[in-house]
Amino acid sequence: MMHVSLRQLRTFEAVARLRSFSRAAEELHVTQPTVSKQIRLLCDEIGLALLEQIGKKVFLTEAGEHLYATCGDWLETWGRFEQTIADMKGVKKGRLRIASVTTTKYFMPRLLGPFCAQYPGIDIALEVINRDRLLERLARNQDDIYVMGVPPDGMNIECEPFLENSLVVLAPSSHRLTTLGRTVRFAELAQEHFLVRERGSGTRLTMERLFEEHGVRPNIRMELGSNEAIKQAVAGGLGLAILSDSTIGEDHLNHQVCVLDVEGFPIRRSWYLVRSKEKRVSVVAATFLEFLKSHVNLLGHPAKEVQQAV
Ligand code: PGA
Repeated sequence: MMHVSLRQLRTFEAVARLRSFSRAAEELHVTQPTVSKQIRLLCDEIGLALLEQIGKKVFLTEAGEHLYATCGDWLETWGRFEQTIADMKGVKKGRLRIASVTTTKYFMPRLLGPFCAQYPGIDIALEVINRDRLLERLARNQDDIYVMGVPPDGMNIECEPFLENSLVVLAPSSHRLTTLGRTVRFAELAQEHFLVRERGSGTRLTMERLFEEHGVRPNIRMELGSNEAIKQAVAGGLGLAILSDSTIGEDHLNHQVCVLDVEGFPIRRSWYLVRSKEKRVSVVAATFLEFLKSHVNLLGHPAKEVQQAV
């Protein structure tokens, strides 16, 4: 019988999924040598190579593919067992895994603070990633709760709107469209340069769908991987951007950026709490969902009537 530890399997699963030792180390909060050591021990125990590294790329060997296909299920089953035990020992204790899209970083940590203070026995692992990476995790059933603006179609999930999420058009304060003295028509936007998030981002997807609906193509000047970088680029006069109003702080970047008055905007949407129907709701997850719904007014804009994502 092989002596394989859960720790080795967790490490292997992360490297195989992320195809990277360094990203796996980051996700597991350990050093890269620790990841390499766990993989080496696992390969020694199994007696075959599981991964191949060519240059910086990591590939799975045939044995690695077989192990990857099975270890997801084992880890999921073990996670359920751990949570059942935690539920049996005392209700509000255990680990809560949340995956949340990038843009929610402006409010999720503010909700987690009071939650952790109220339930010190609950240990939270929060993944902040873009929509595409979040959907991969959802498909693999890796987390208890997902927070996103554009829930996917065709997955066995339950979605609940819980917070308003309006999309606005940002422009440099000195932009000529800010001085028109009237609402800007959508067709006028099409002539402007846009700064957009990377492919795979929910914000990008929503923006593309919106332009498609109006039958116009956005004039994309630059793709940037973060909302903050986009706001800085708008402030620098590189173009306009369509972003969630959650990204706008009080200071509007010292008044260098403003929200344009555009026909059809703000687009009122919601942030959704999403969970897989295939996963049992643990006591910890149920506690968190209840907490969020009752504390969302801390942030000021609970979802009222829900307008489906564009
Ligand atoms: P994003 O997602 O942070 O990946 O752009 C935002 C959203 O889903 O609305």
